[in-house]
Amino acid sequence: KSYRVAILGATGAVGTELIQLLESRSFPVAELKLLASARSAGSQLLFKGENITVEAVDEQSFNQVDIVLASAGGETSKRWAAKAVEAGAVFIDNSSAFRMDAQVPLIVPEVNPEAAASHQGIIANPNCTTILMAVAIWPLYQVQPIRRIVVSTYQSASGAGARAMEEMITQAQAILQGKTPPTEIFPYPLAFNLFPHNSPLDESGYCQEELKMVNETRKIFGVEELRISATCVRVPVLRAHSEAINLEFDQPFDVAKAREVLSQAPGVELREDWKANYFPMPIDATGRDPVLVGRIRQDISHRCGLELWLSGDQVRKGAALNAVQIAELLVANNLLRSSLVASH
Ligand code: A2P
Repeated sequence: KSYRVAILGATGAVGTELIQLLESRSFPVAELKLLASARSAGSQLLFKGENITVEAVDEQSFNQVDIVLASAGGETSKRWAAKAVEAGAVFIDNSSAFRMDAQVPLIVPEVNPEAAASHQGIIANPNCTTILMAVAIWPLYQVQPIRRIVVSTYQSASGAGARAMEEMITQAQAILQGKTPPTEIFPYPLAFNLFPHNSPLDESGYCQEELKMVNETRKIFGVEELRISATCVRVPVLRAHSEAINLEFDQPFDVAKAREVLSQAPGVELREDWKANYFPMPIDATGRDPVLVGRIRQDISHRCGLELWLSGDQVRKGAALNAVQIAELLVANNLLRSSLVASH
């Protein structure tokens, strides 16, 4: 059995990765539709050795489609999700448009796959930094409840899309030539610099990206009162995000036990060479599926505290891979809407 898949935002950083993942993971695709804005309609992208022409999304785009993988921004998702659902598809959305909607499951397959069963047509893919943290700390949470999380992020340019990655390269070239770096997508130069995440600020002083980590982690873990504080920072890395995470438990968490748990955790790869002072780096996480975790150590300031460090590919596990895993989950559990009606 195979399925008719549409990618909304097919020409973007996440969209192109979605195409590759459907191919490399042998997702059962009967037909692939590539959708974007009118700007890139007519361009061609390769899938399984065949050129597929990108179409501008319109009212007819979702007819005869089983699964939509959307990564074209919140506004585009808000505009098209209901149309896709009306046409019988399941809409797996990478944007933040529906994540906190009580009717919409927010899923990291390694953490809460069971949430998929209650979907009503839309499923949300969490924020990238939230996904990476959730994969790394959920296995520890299973052993001992976490009282409080303090996290600092080191987020790459890829989180802001393909054009943002190009802008950072152009900025670097300009600076090396003694010129003023262009800032069209980013508010400030990112090359040779860093800045606190530029998403809108709340009256609490936190930015939207930080509040996503708080609210989305609570929803994914199903723990409304989970205490989390985040500081999100954009750093001049092209792709793959890193995070420094401090966890506080009720009881001390043995470091050797944490290492053992994480060495067996799904979606996690333990990367520690204490003698060589080698730990996860964005260049090692880039293009890879697992979240690389290391530098697990006792917090010297708190007997019940544990410190860890991670790097994970923002475009993959932070976005496209997680979305494809959700699609795989739907297929494996017979949760597609069209599969309830007919097989093809
Ligand atoms: P397009 O190539 O036509 O601009 P990124 O996150 O890397 O910036 O990619 C954004 C993706 O979302 C691109 O594929 C882009 O297509 C698509 N997109 C942006 N705005 C719209 C829109 N209004 N309708 C459909 N697709 C859109």
